[in-house]
Amino acid sequence: MHNDIKRVLLSEEELESIITRLAGELDRDYAGRDGRLVLLCILKGSVVFMGELMKKITVPVEIDFMKVSSYGAGTTTTGNIHIALDINRKDIECCDIVIVEDIIDSGRTLSHLSKYLTLKGARSVKTCTLLDKPSRREVDFEADYVGCNIPDEFVVGYGLDYDERYRALPYVGILKPEVYM
Ligand code: PRP
Repeated sequence: MHNDIKRVLLSEEELESIITRLAGELDRDYAGRDGRLVLLCILKGSVVFMGELMKKITVPVEIDFMKVSSYGAGTTTTGNIHIALDINRKDIECCDIVIVEDIIDSGRTLSHLSKYLTLKGARSVKTCTLLDKPSRREVDFEADYVGCNIPDEFVVGYGLDYDERYRALPYVGILKPEVYM
């Protein structure tokens, strides 16, 4: 285990099992539909989850990317969402979009993005998150597919960072407070 990690919250085996279940739920819900199923990865934190999830889904799937950032650095997010990289498809009205996120905290990012993509004309918009911190919610939002509810701890790894570090850890771990305090 990395020296800055206090405890492993989700091991590689646990993550694999969670993602297998989520892929099964998506297969079940999207089998036999006419539209184009698009997994929309929200950079950067979702990249590891996205890569594993898309390998396990058996229905035909396409991928796309957006980068969204909340203003304000540090350990908190603000209500201001900035789209740094937008989805750019001419056929969006044929797309059943599943937004793929690593974590929901305040809920502002996914709440905003869901409305944005619906307004842009997507055929349908659903959300899939690996991790959810329901105790941190600031807006009324629930994802359609949730890997695991977690407590309000500072988690890194499996795509999640602190100051751009730890994204490559193969597990989700709780960061030692002395690293960020
Ligand atoms: C994280 C995460 C979500 C968002 C969740 O992204 O990936 O996009 O914050 O927070 P919310 O529910 O309070 O809106 P971050 O801004 O840290 O960017 P990153 O994925 O590039 O690390």
